Amino acid sequence: MPNQASTYAAYKAAFAGLAKPFAYLDLDLLEQNRQQVLRLATTKKIRIASKSIRSVHVLHLLMDSDPAFIGLMTFTGEETIFLASQGFNDLLLGYPIWNPTLIESIAGLVDQGRAITLMVDSMAHVAHIEQIARKFKVKMPVCIDLDLSSDFWKLHFGVWRSPTRTVEAAVQLAEKIALSDNLVLDGIMGYEAQIAGLGDQNPATRMKNHVIRLLKQSSIAEFTKTRAELLHTLNQKGITPRFVNGGGSGSLLTTTLEDVVTEVTVGSAFYAPALFDYYQDIQFQPAAGYAIEIVRQPRTDTYTCLGGGYTASGACARDKLPKVHLPQGAELTKLEGAGEVQTPIVYQGPETLNLGDPIFMRHSKAGELCERFTQLHGYSQGEIKMVFPTYRGLGRCFL
Ligand SMILES: Cc1ncc(COP(=O)(O)O)c(C=O)c1O
Repeated sequence: MPNQASTYAAYKAAFAGLAKPFAYLDLDLLEQNRQQVLRLATTKKIRIASKSIRSVHVLHLLMDSDPAFIGLMTFTGEETIFLASQGFNDLLLGYPIWNPTLIESIAGLVDQGRAITLMVDSMAHVAHIEQIARKFKVKMPVCIDLDLSSDFWKLHFGVWRSPTRTVEAAVQLAEKIALSDNLVLDGIMGYEAQIAGLGDQNPATRMKNHVIRLLKQSSIAEFTKTRAELLHTLNQKGITPRFVNGGGSGSLLTTTLEDVVTEVTVGSAFYAPALFDYYQDIQFQPAAGYAIEIVRQPRTDTYTCLGGGYTASGACARDKLPKVHLPQGAELTKLEGAGEVQTPIVYQGPETLNLGDPIFMRHSKAGELCERFTQLHGYSQGEIKMVFPTYRGLGRCFL
């Protein structure tokens, strides 16, 4: 539960001078999440998913806070180059890129001694990067993305990303990389999205939550073996990648149990958006959100606000809508949801709401909030302590 300083009254008073809409980051709750991540990561190193933060200043704050944070998982080529220019090192681009100009720029940075690793999942990726690396006479660090989805009869439990689905296929890729003068196998990544990114007590999938939990257990048992077998086979062949990356915020409890995993990726846990309320075994504090302004009152219990409709990416469903955070008990309406210009909020609780008052909302995803705002107002103990520009606030927009 939010502490005393994170109530509707406290937020309303502290943010009273700001024009709405605005975004905020509760630094006290961020700190609780940071400590929780460090606790749950146990002995594993932590790579911060920049897509779930999207603020250079917040990334620096987190990275500088503990030696367990060893680097970033970035999400586009341009973003990676930008973050390198902002002083970050050990950047793992979490997704394959193809644009030759961007790969050339990254090869140039690697040549200057910057630690940047590109993602590959196929012979085509390997050949493409190798050709550019050869031209630039650099040894390009690459990481193999091993698919960790599970197929249960006709159900594909996981995501459609990497075509490298077996130990044999990954070993073949690793051997190809090992033979190249211009590539080095820096890491192995397996992202168990069906565990890390899928809630199992989601009111939107109430009927399915029990089944999801069972599928999660079976899938974990399956890919834990695959990951261990791959590393064992590679080691036997004398191939020893620098890191083995796994997981995400929602799988911290299980990814950290795997001996072969050296580091976990964590991003969403820091802001803890609404979708992260729906995990049975793992909880974070609602640190980031935004405020919209009540501008009309069409009936006694309904307060209509200006704007507010920041829906998240992914398959369209109710849980991609933002969630009303404070005052507690306030809700969106089923028919209108969160609108482009108007968002009705139904509230029958003890707070007196007037025109001009704020309603505090949470995005359902973490970093996407920052694409809507130029700043995050850093709140602590009843005051705005500092302001963090978002990527958008720095004039940057990557995806
Ligand atoms: C490759 C990869 N690793 C890790 C993550 C986990 O990120 P987060 O902790 O923000 O959920 C993601 C999220 O989409 C991802 O795509």
